[in-house]
Amino acid sequence: MRRAVCPGSFDPVTNGHLDIFGRAAALFDEVVVAVGVNKSKSTSSNRLFGADERMEMLTEAVAPWGNVRVQGFTGLVTDFCREIDAQAIVKGLRGSGDYDYELQMAQMNAHLTEVETVFLMTDPSMSFVSSSLVKEVASFGGDVSGLVPDAVLQRLTTRIEERRAGS
Ligand code: PNS
Repeated sequence: MRRAVCPGSFDPVTNGHLDIFGRAAALFDEVVVAVGVNKSKSTSSNRLFGADERMEMLTEAVAPWGNVRVQGFTGLVTDFCREIDAQAIVKGLRGSGDYDYELQMAQMNAHLTEVETVFLMTDPSMSFVSSSLVKEVASFGGDVSGLVPDAVLQRLTTRIEERRAGS
């Protein structure tokens, strides 16, 4: 069984992520979307969605693929790969900025374990899409439909309204 892990924070999942999951699902027997749920102050404080919400949105979004599942993880992604017997980490690369950052992580992960990192080039129609930019644009009322699944768009709009109302 060839198993791959797609790790990320997915705050929230975008259509760019989904493109990578679908392509990974065609290459591997099973793909595990691994949601980082580390409770470190620097990461959790600036999240728009909690771990449970991020995982719910992902689970709904990956439902069309029979061989993709969602699981939370804490600690090192390499330890998680070992735990679930995954041979590869699959990541999308949008451009040189991603490459510089991802190369260092891939090499560190290779130093830690025997897991391979496989990079898939982002579909050009999604190369400008990131969770951070989607949140920023949506927070100023910009149109992000088509960049995230419809269910995510609804939750995003609601959460931004809640934040604005101070709740
Ligand atoms: O880029 P993202 O989406 O914020 O990724 C977050 C995540 C959870 C995938 C990343 O921070 C991670 O892998 N954390 C686990 C800790 C770890 O393994 N660090 C060493 C990486 S070389």
